[in-house]
Amino acid sequence: MQSQLRLAARRDVEALVCLRAALWPDTPKREHETEIRKIIAGRPCRTLPLVLIVAEVQKTLAGFVEVGLRSHADGCDPIRPVGFVEGWYVLARHRSKGMGRALIVAAENWSREQGCSELASDTWLNNEASQRAHEALGFEVVDRCVNYRKALRR
Ligand SMILES: CC(C)(COP(=O)(O)OP(=O)(O)OC[C@H]1O[C@@H](n2cnc3c(N)ncnc32)[C@H](O)[C@@H]1OP(=O)(O)O)[C@@H](O)C(=O)NCCC(=O)NCCS
Repeated sequence: MQSQLRLAARRDVEALVCLRAALWPDTPKREHETEIRKIIAGRPCRTLPLVLIVAEVQKTLAGFVEVGLRSHADGCDPIRPVGFVEGWYVLARHRSKGMGRALIVAAENWSREQGCSELASDTWLNNEASQRAHEALGFEVVDRCVNYRKALRR
């Protein structure tokens, strides 16, 4: 079944909350909703641009890519900002049919329009399916890391 890609609009908020919550279940739905509304309004909670591109099948949202600019990303040329895939998700029943690829192509096109010559992304070390999908779409691994945090006593 053919999917249509477009920038997210206000009518997509409810469906996008479900998709985003499926990808990032630790974030409360209320927070997803606030962030989605800000991105759609063109006022994301960050200084650089960020957009949501959705894939629709028979007028129902089936996937999204959240792509923005970052001033730099590991392994990329620091001379100019890079496009960065902040989130990428396709409903399980629509996977392996090319929708993920179409969303990444849309993210590439948006990044090119912003003047970028690179698109970066990341995924969790235990998400092997995502790693395979990234590699199938032409991403190369530039680093593997473990992130740490330590609260500082005042
Ligand atoms: C990752 C994800 C978005 C891919 O969406 P999709 O619609 O299944 O992707 P596509 O069908 O367009 O496949 C794109 C390419 O990746 C490959 N691929 C996709 N899933 C794969 C898997 N599980 N194992 C190996 N390769 C895979 C496909 O073979 C395809 O390559 P090809 O065109 O050369 O055959 C989807 O699996 C998903 O939502 N996963 C859960 C959320 C997630 O992990 N998101 C990424 C976190 S950053």
